[in-house]
Parts: sequence; C-alpha cells; structure tokens
Amino acid sequence: MKFFVDTADTAEIRDLEATGLLDGVTTNPSLIAKSGRDFKEVIAEICQITKGDVSAEVAATDFDGMMKEAAELVKIADNVVIKLPLTLDGLKACKALTSQGHKTNVTLCFSANQALLAAKAGATYISPFIGRLDDINMDGMELIAEIRTIYDNYDFKTEILAASIRTPNHVKECALVGADVATIPPSTLKALVKHPLTDKGLETFLADWAKTGQKIV
Ligand code: E4P
Repeated sequence: MKFFVDTADTAEIRDLEATGLLDGVTTNPSLIAKSGRDFKEVIAEICQITKGDVSAEVAATDFDGMMKEAAELVKIADNVVIKLPLTLDGLKACKALTSQGHKTNVTLCFSANQALLAAKAGATYISPFIGRLDDINMDGMELIAEIRTIYDNYDFKTEILAASIRTPNHVKECALVGADVATIPPSTLKALVKHPLTDKGLETFLADWAKTGQKIV
C-alpha cells in the first residue's frame, strides 16, 4: 500500500519525505487555505520536495473552467495530478484529461456507484472519504471494500486512494481490505510507528547496555 500525506504544510512534507516512506501528497482547497500561501507556489514547492504524485484540486465547477485550470496546474511539474470533484462535469473533465495523458484524482466519493463512474471515466485515483462517512454514522471502510470488489470484478486500473483518514486503525483497516493508497494527515502518519511496548523495551535495552560500559563506535 502506498502512503500519501494529506497536507499543504511543506515543512511536514519535507520531514516525512526524509524518512523515505512517502509515496505522494494530496492537498485540497481547505488545506491550501489553512497554509495561508499562494496555491500554485505551494504546489510547485511540494513537487520539488517529492517525486511522487501531488494532487492539486481545481476550484472551477464547470467543465470548461476545470479544463482551463487543469491546463495551468499541469504546467507546474510533471508529478501534478489533477484533482476533480465527483460531479458530471468533473467526470467529463476526468475523461478529457485522461485522454490527454494527464493523471487525475476524483475526489469527494461517498458511494460505490460514484467510484464505478470515476473508473469508467479513466481516473488514475478515486478518493473515497472514510472519516466523513463515519461522521454521519455510515461505514467508510465498507465503502472501500465495495469499491475493491467492483474494481477487481472488472479489472479497473483506477487506484483506490482512501481519504479522510482520521486514525491509525483506519490505516490498518484500509490495508486489510486492499486500498491501493492511503492519504494520511501528518500526525496520524507519525502515530503509526508508536507502541508503548516498543518504547518500554527500548528503555530497558538502553539501561542494560549502559551497565555494560561498552561502546559500539
Ligand atoms: C483527500 O484528498 C482529502 O484531502 C482529505 O482526506 C479530506 O479529509 P477530511 O475529511 O479530514 O477533511
């Protein structure tokens, strides 16, 4: 499973990129607003930090507007992926951009039928939002599993990019049901490594090592 980080905070992206565990980055208009920076400038900086796919979302809601914005965004770097909303115009733009050879990420997916449409439109990625479904008492993980079955039934190449991940457990469940990618907030991504028994075990090993009075180098 690939790990993307879901943020527009370039300091966080730099830190995570240095671990060698990062496969890409997703952003959205809310994350760009939170960064307080110029959209195209942030995307350009992120694309310099990572060679992985970087999702940049259009703000237009009509086909022509989306195509115009996408044409600008793809100029920024080769690893820009155009993020489009799951609307009829978004799907139409997805089909057109795919035929032009660009990568796409169809976002705001909340149903299996929406994911089926995105695959038919040739999306590179489909982004089902787990946390937002859980928030309204639905089962986000069930959606990931349904999409996995549908895509496997028809051998669709669209990758399932599990989004709106809120907990380490979401990441584990995504891996169990076969999501291709998880886009994870930085704090949740860092939390994956933590286990109290690892901390306790390391503390004991270090204390015992100190008693030996030895040095490795
Ligand atoms: C995905 O691409 C979105 O940016 C993101 O995962 C949304 O997460 P949220 O529901 O926590 O805002």
